[in-house]
Amino acid sequence: MAKSKTVYFCQNCGASSAKWVGHCPVCKQWNTYVEEVVESSPTAVPAWVGDSDPEVQGKSQRISSIQAGKEQRTKTPDEELNRVLGGGIVQGSLVLIGGEPGIGKSTLLLQMALKLDRRVLYVSGEESESQLKMRADRLGIANEACYILAATDIQNIFKEVKKLKPQVLVIDSIQTLFSRTIESTPGSISQIRECTGQLLRFAKDSNTPVFLIGHITKDGHIAGPKVLEHMVDTVLQFEGDRHHIYRILRSVKNRFGSSSELGIYEMAGEGLREVSNPSEVLISETDDNLSGISITAAMEGARPLMIETQALVSSAVYGTPQRNANGYDLRRLNMLLAVLEKRCGFKLGMQDVFVNVAGGLRLDDPGSDLGIASAILSSYENIPLNRKTCFVGEIGLSGEVRAVNRIEQRIAEAQKLGFEEMVVSKANLKNPISSNMKLSGVRNIMEVAELLFG
Ligand code: TYD
Ligand code: MG
Repeated sequence: MAKSKTVYFCQNCGASSAKWVGHCPVCKQWNTYVEEVVESSPTAVPAWVGDSDPEVQGKSQRISSIQAGKEQRTKTPDEELNRVLGGGIVQGSLVLIGGEPGIGKSTLLLQMALKLDRRVLYVSGEESESQLKMRADRLGIANEACYILAATDIQNIFKEVKKLKPQVLVIDSIQTLFSRTIESTPGSISQIRECTGQLLRFAKDSNTPVFLIGHITKDGHIAGPKVLEHMVDTVLQFEGDRHHIYRILRSVKNRFGSSSELGIYEMAGEGLREVSNPSEVLISETDDNLSGISITAAMEGARPLMIETQALVSSAVYGTPQRNANGYDLRRLNMLLAVLEKRCGFKLGMQDVFVNVAGGLRLDDPGSDLGIASAILSSYENIPLNRKTCFVGEIGLSGEVRAVNRIEQRIAEAQKLGFEEMVVSKANLKNPISSNMKLSGVRNIMEVAELLFG
C-alpha cells in the first residue's frame, strides 16, 4: 500500500519541516510554510527513464581521459537571445525564463520555436492548442517543424516526447506541470522540484535543450524555491514595464556564458522585435534643450550602451525631502547627494530629488555615477547640458572621479552615435587614447561643476 506522509515546505526557500512553523528558520520569512502530501508509492516509476548505459554510471574516470566534446551550440535567428544565452542554445541545457505575467515570455519562446529550423515541441499548460495557433497567426510565422501540445501531466508529456523526439523542448510553464508520483497540487514546491528534476534528467540524457517558463512572485522572485534556480543551467529574467514597449532579457545565471548580458526587445503588434541599435532608442530625440538630462555610456555585460538619465530637483514642499530613483540604486543616489552637498556646496538637503533612467533599464554600472550627478546638477542649476556631451566615471566619497573599465569601447560607442565630447576621469586618460571626440579629463566633482557651469 502506498504510504503517504505530509510535510510542510517553505514556499520561499524550499526548506521542509515535519510540523508547521510560522517563521522559517532558514530564510527567516514569516508564514511561508504550506502542507504538502508526499506520496512514496513503491510502484511509482519516474516518467523519464533514460537509456544511458548502467555500466558506466557510478564509475569514476580520470579527468584527462574524458573527451571534452566541443560545446555544441545552435544559433537561433534571434541575435538578442543568442547573446543572452552566451552565443546560442547549448545542447542538453536546461534554461529557465522568469518574468511577470503578461510581459511576453510565451511570445518570446513561441517566436523562437517558430523561427528555429529544428523540430520543436512547445508544451503549454496554460493555453489550448487553438489559442496557441491564434497567437502563432498573430506572429505571422509558419513552420512545419513546430509541434504544439496542451498538457500538464508530465507522464503524458514524456510519452509524446518519446514518440516525437523533438530537438528542442519548451515548457510553458513549470508551475502548471504535475507528476502523478506526488500527490500535492501543481505549483507546489514538491511538484516543481520533482518535475524540474525529471526534465533535467531528460535534458542531460538525451542532450536536448529544454526551456522552462517560470512565474514570478509579487516581490520579483521566481515562484518556487531557490532550488529551481540551482537545478537549471541558465536563468534568464524577462523584465520591463508592461505599459512600455521595451522589454529586457537579462541573464541572471549562466553556466555556459557571461551572467551580465542583456537583450532588448520591442513589443509590437506582431510579436517581439529585436532592438539591434539600443543606444539610439534609449536617447530621446528632442530639439528643445531641457535641464536635468544627461547621457552616460554604461556597460551592460560586454556591450556599451548610451543611456539617458534624467533628474528633477525641486524645493521640498513638505517637511522631509523626497528621494526617488527609477532604475538606479536609491542608496547610491543618497550617497551622491551627500557628496555633492559636502564637497561642492550644493544645498540639496532641502530639495526633492527624483532620478529616472530611460527605457526601463536598471543602471548597475558604477561608471554611470557621473551621468547621474551631472543630471542632478543640471536640474539644480536649471541649465541644460550640451546634448553632444556624455559623462562616464565613478564617484567616490571624497568627490573624486575614478577611472572606469573598458573606456575604449565606451568611447567608440559614443563616437559612433555622433557625440562630440566625453567627460571622463583624468586617470582614464593616462594612456593616450586615439579618438576624434574631445575627451575632457576631470579629477573630482568640483571640476565637473566648473566645467559645466563655469
Ligand atoms: P505573453 O507572451 O502572453 O506573456 P506571458 O507569457 O509572459 O504572460 O504576452 C502577453 C502580452 O503581449 C499581451 O498583453 C499582449 C502582448 N502582445 C503584443 O503586444 N503583441 C503580440 O504580437 C503578442 C503575441 C502579444
Ligand atoms: Mg504565458
